[in-house]
Amino acid sequence: MHAIEIQGLSKDYRVGFWKKKLQPALKSLDLTVASGEAFGFLGPNGAGKTTTLKLLMGIIFPSSGTASILGQHYLDPAIKKKIGFLPEQPYFYDYLSAPELLGYYAQLSGMPAQERRSQRIHAVLERVGLGDTGNKQLRKFSKGMLQRVGIAQAIIHDPEVVVLDEPMSGRDPLGRHEVRELMQSLKDEGKTIFFSTHILSDAEALCDRVGVIHKGELRGGGVVNDLRSNVAGKSEVIFEGAHGVAKVADLLSESHVTGGTVRAIVRSSDLDLLLEKLRQQRVRLIAVTPLQGTLEDYFLSKTSEKTESEAVHP
Ligand SMILES: Nc1ncnc2c1ncn2[C@@H]1O[C@H](COP(=O)(O)OP(=O)(O)OP(=O)(O)O)[C@@H](O)[C@H]1O
Ligand SMILES: [Mg+2]
Repeated sequence: MHAIEIQGLSKDYRVGFWKKKLQPALKSLDLTVASGEAFGFLGPNGAGKTTTLKLLMGIIFPSSGTASILGQHYLDPAIKKKIGFLPEQPYFYDYLSAPELLGYYAQLSGMPAQERRSQRIHAVLERVGLGDTGNKQLRKFSKGMLQRVGIAQAIIHDPEVVVLDEPMSGRDPLGRHEVRELMQSLKDEGKTIFFSTHILSDAEALCDRVGVIHKGELRGGGVVNDLRSNVAGKSEVIFEGAHGVAKVADLLSESHVTGGTVRAIVRSSDLDLLLEKLRQQRVRLIAVTPLQGTLEDYFLSKTSEKTESEAVHP
């Protein structure tokens, strides 16, 4: 069973003075997140990430399409206690302390007995690095500390699915590292994590799979390692026998000869042909390695690609 299944989800916002013009923010999104998976939803500013997450949380309503979470309709109230959500810009009651705020959320989620609540609250605050803030009011918290409170409220009720909108934003590198570790530990516990980010190194480190969204359209995605090698589209071939180079030179985009060993770069689509020709020349093959690109290479290739409609009406 998929933890999250989104089918044809679209959102048009009404814009303009008379709110008569419809502006598409999300165009028929189909997406699945497997149970226990960390899925990164990547896209530049204005791509439609927050819109998607708000739709999924039932904060706004779609123009069309539907979704299910843990096998139930996404708007079913019974599913809410199994989901934790960190909004993009969380606002909290300024005059509460962190334990008071979490106590409130714990109570809302139906957590029983005050005693159990306070133990859980203490443990979660420790976990997000806020174990020692005592009665300090939230209005005195730094931006990074508030972000931690946001994560704490998202996990206070021990949800199965955690949805986070830009969890690393407003963090210094150390804070980002801490959030990453926290998300990794949630994943290790078997939670499903669906989060948006534009920090590709964080996605690369954490995610099993990613999806790239741009201008409201899902442009691509898949298993992170596959995307890296696909984007490079080239392989490195090392063989012995410099005499072999001349006959295959037209297939090589680069070649370096050191002693009798050749290191050549070939487009992956030409790889079979190259290997066949080298075999015919009885050249000794040492290694064939697909070259890895970065997730950033993939992201840039997908967000600079034109869609069919853009290509017709640029
Ligand atoms: N309430 C709204 N009314 C009208 N348009 C909106 C509204 N909310 C979002 N939009 C538009 O929808 C598009 C997608 O916005 P969204 O906030 O989902 O992007 P995002 O991917 O989360 O971007 P960011 O990385 O900046 O957070 C943008 O063009 C935005 O201007
Ligand atoms: Mg956003």
